[in-house]
Amino acid sequence: MDSFSAITARMPALRAEITAHPERHRILTGERPTGALHLGHLFGTILERVRLQQMGVETFVVVADYQVITDRDSVGDIATNVREVVRDNLAAGLDPERTTIFTHSAVPELNQLLLPFLSLVSEAELHRNPTVKAEAAAAGRSLSGLLLTYPVHQAADILFCKGTLVPVGKDNLPHVEVARQIARRFGERYGAVFPEPAGLITTAPELPGLDGRKMSKSYGNAISLRMTAEETAAVIRRSQTDSERSITYEPDRRPGVSALLDTAAVCLGRTPADVAEEIGNGGSGALKRLTATAVNDFLAEHRERRAAIDPATVSEVLHDGNARAREIAAATLAEVRAAMGMAY
Ligand code: TRP
Repeated sequence: MDSFSAITARMPALRAEITAHPERHRILTGERPTGALHLGHLFGTILERVRLQQMGVETFVVVADYQVITDRDSVGDIATNVREVVRDNLAAGLDPERTTIFTHSAVPELNQLLLPFLSLVSEAELHRNPTVKAEAAAAGRSLSGLLLTYPVHQAADILFCKGTLVPVGKDNLPHVEVARQIARRFGERYGAVFPEPAGLITTAPELPGLDGRKMSKSYGNAISLRMTAEETAAVIRRSQTDSERSITYEPDRRPGVSALLDTAAVCLGRTPADVAEEIGNGGSGALKRLTATAVNDFLAEHRERRAAIDPATVSEVLHDGNARAREIAAATLAEVRAAMGMAY
């Protein structure tokens, strides 16, 4: 597999190619509807997909409901979570006229691609996937068959619509590599059906959670997009900092302070060091006030748009998106059957 730095080095050329020829590309990306989306999702992938959509690249967003059961027994309030994911994507600026938003469970032809795809990977390869290993360790339980094979299912997400670009965070890059391998191996065995997709690493640095660890709802360190301004100010106020008056950006030594600086900086479009300098000897109180204001100002419009999206609109977007995804998946599956000599 190409190293992260090799992939990063290719990004400027890839971005130039997309700008010059948006019509040559199709984007597929998505998220697991395990709970409310947070600020890390917004900066990490959602705003990026909105920019790409605005550049004229056809975009698909999978609300990956079958991925929810990879590492847990219960789906939780899946219907609400799916609808909230759709709502946040729309509020961020995704236009359902130009972007297809759909769920796994509504597109059987996509899921069927999993069977031929599974035959193209070895058990050892599945066990070697670093993200699967990390997720299995974090789940603290034995690996489910679906967790082991979900990168292959994710390849079906990408390849059913012949996606060429996959905007992902760093932790999902190994999965894009799996999709590339499957596209290539399918081509070698049965003839060319799938283009090889490329991972598109977002230009935004990964936003840490309020304690400096990865932002995650399960760590309780996330700023959820559905929090009110008051709730946002409250979680920031409760976040763990230290008692040094002088505010400096030192992620290793001062994770809490630095995470707040990262958060404020990304919302203000400035560097964390610059924000630290502005606060100077103001201490954690001033840092927290500044951060809360920066986040709330940044999210004000998103929250307004979010509140204006009614449940009927969300239903309609999902219904139309699922129908369109199904049409495309059925056409791809027909090509796959023909390539495999299974068109009876
Ligand atoms: N695994 C991704 C995540 O956890 C979500 C996802 C599902 C995805 N299918 C995808 C991302 C296909 C990119 C492409 O965030």
